[in-house]
Amino acid sequence: MGSATAQRLISLAATFCLILIKAIPGNSSPTAYEVLEGYDFPVGLLPKGVRSYDLNATTGQFSAYFNDSCSFRQASYQLKYKPAIKGYISNGKLSSLEGISVKVVFMWMDIKEIIRSGDNLDFSVGVGKTGFPVDYFEDSPQCGCGLNCGRRQARKLGINPFALSW
Ligand SMILES: *[C@@H]1O[C@H](CO)[C@@H](O)[C@H](O)[C@H]1NC(C)=O
Ligand SMILES: *[C@@H]1O[C@H](CO)[C@@H](O)[C@H](O)[C@H]1NC(C)=O
Repeated sequence: MGSATAQRLISLAATFCLILIKAIPGNSSPTAYEVLEGYDFPVGLLPKGVRSYDLNATTGQFSAYFNDSCSFRQASYQLKYKPAIKGYISNGKLSSLEGISVKVVFMWMDIKEIIRSGDNLDFSVGVGKTGFPVDYFEDSPQCGCGLNCGRRQARKLGINPFALSW
């Protein structure tokens, strides 16, 4: 092989590598799920289908948008996300939340704050709070069927989700 050909091949390979690097998703702006993880929260706090989000990295003020409202069961609770949710995020703390509610007995209550404390997440609805293991939120639930689309999560954790109470 002539050296000119070799050089052309090397240059072609280099160009190809550059194209590949640009195509790797991690190189573009992070997804809302990745941002959540960056603040030490599990991705499962956000159901699948986030269309876009805004984040002011200085203040932690954020909004996340879905195409539609989203409802599913998480452990023994029914959760509902509005098409736009917002609040403030900092390491291990989500506060002034708007747009996420949980059905407690027969009432829908807004989740105001979610705080990570070790391996637990404490959810606060204003009148009370309850904790869940972080493991519950390993995967993003799907609107509608939540984590039970394949009944995978409950089996993996080997627990009875109905044993919990608010
Ligand atoms: C949201 O709606 C747009 C326009 O209809 C569609 O292209 C997009 O795939 C939808 N996104 C999700 C996450 O469903
Ligand atoms: C973040 O919020 C602060 C305070 O409201 C504001 O001054 C700043 O311009 C915002 N930054 C961005 C990137 O929007």
